[in-house]
Amino acid sequence: MDTKSGETRDFIVERLAEARERTRWLLRTLSDEDLARQHDEVMSPLIWDYGHIGNYEELWLLEQAFGRGLSERELYDMYDASLTPRSERPSLNLLDRGDAGRYLDAVREAVLEALGEADLATDDPLLKDGFVYHMVLQHEYQHNETMLQTIQLMQGVGYRPEIRADLPPGNQPKEEMVYVPGGSFVMGTEDRAWALDNERSAHEVETQGFYLDATPVTNHAYLEFVENGGYDREELWDPEGWAWKVEEDISSPGCWYQPDPHRWWTQCFGFHEPLLADAPVMHVSWFEADAYARWAGKRLPTEAEWEKAASWDPKEGTKRLYPWGDQPPMPERANLDQLTFRPAEVGAYPDGASAYGSSGMIGDVWEWTASEFSAYPGFESFPYREYSEIFFHAGHRVLRGGSWATRPGAVRNTFRNWDFPIRRQLFVGFRCAR
Ligand SMILES: [Fe+2]
Repeated sequence: MDTKSGETRDFIVERLAEARERTRWLLRTLSDEDLARQHDEVMSPLIWDYGHIGNYEELWLLEQAFGRGLSERELYDMYDASLTPRSERPSLNLLDRGDAGRYLDAVREAVLEALGEADLATDDPLLKDGFVYHMVLQHEYQHNETMLQTIQLMQGVGYRPEIRADLPPGNQPKEEMVYVPGGSFVMGTEDRAWALDNERSAHEVETQGFYLDATPVTNHAYLEFVENGGYDREELWDPEGWAWKVEEDISSPGCWYQPDPHRWWTQCFGFHEPLLADAPVMHVSWFEADAYARWAGKRLPTEAEWEKAASWDPKEGTKRLYPWGDQPPMPERANLDQLTFRPAEVGAYPDGASAYGSSGMIGDVWEWTASEFSAYPGFESFPYREYSEIFFHAGHRVLRGGSWATRPGAVRNTFRNWDFPIRRQLFVGFRCAR
């Protein structure tokens, strides 16, 4: 074994254990009934996520990588997201917490045994540099965030995690917007160890000069839009968004409410509190973000503009992995990794700013972009079409940058998330361009 693949192997073993610890930690304080119930039609029962995490690991790290699956076909089908729609998941005979826990342990034991013999210096793109292990890790990380979305939508007594980390204070930047001069930059990546298929290929993109909000739009700013009649002015809305708003009777972001006509509060993980003025607005759909931008005399940035502002170093002519550089996320640079349970006030991470001076691009809230989810030039589906390809040109908008609920290993400047423009269960906000 060469040293590099030995290091990769040790790293993978450690990361797999750490990811599983988090999954279990998130579920620990919830009752069996809360795990089994479907809390919202766009979410799965949490117990499905739990079993599905183990089954995805079995599928990729045993069956596909080594032809060594353990389970019967029915179990794979039950936990296959593309075979079993969300509406059917609550009525399945899902493994309960105890059985799912034993199943996940059995899969993991076999995975570690297979990993011990695996050749990570091979030319097989699935195993090379540990790609498939990183893909499975990212999958577990992503489900950890999905699970938090479900917990946020739970009705009841409130979620009481055993830890809550503190946040640094906000610090509004002096300039509301930063300028990103026109010119070309490299969008996407050629990385084959961590990046997912939709982040490739790296390609040159020319942007015109534009202004971008230095921070995400705050609750305070969004409240002005609400109080200015933003939800009643049809001319501000995309026609499809207006129809959605009318049909769903929407007049403020998700989780906002008024205890009396003079005050706005939010409901956060079952607890009620006054709206935090300087924190980014959260739980808004793409349509709401788009209407706000029009009201403010601005627009949403394209995906290319977002990525350029976050990743390009114009002095060096190079691309950064994160807005601040290539060093991995640390708590001083970005609000990631779930344990704060909320976005920070804007400007709280000056050390996390990009080369152009925009801050909070990674962490806090996902940010809607104007762009529809589609393939980059040179895209090749890998290792399966259902990860990205079937979602191209299907009406999804791209989200960038991760949220406070994103695990650090699941986000980078090139990472692309997507959802329908009506969705607001995500920990999502936005910033505007002009
Ligand atoms: Fe999944």
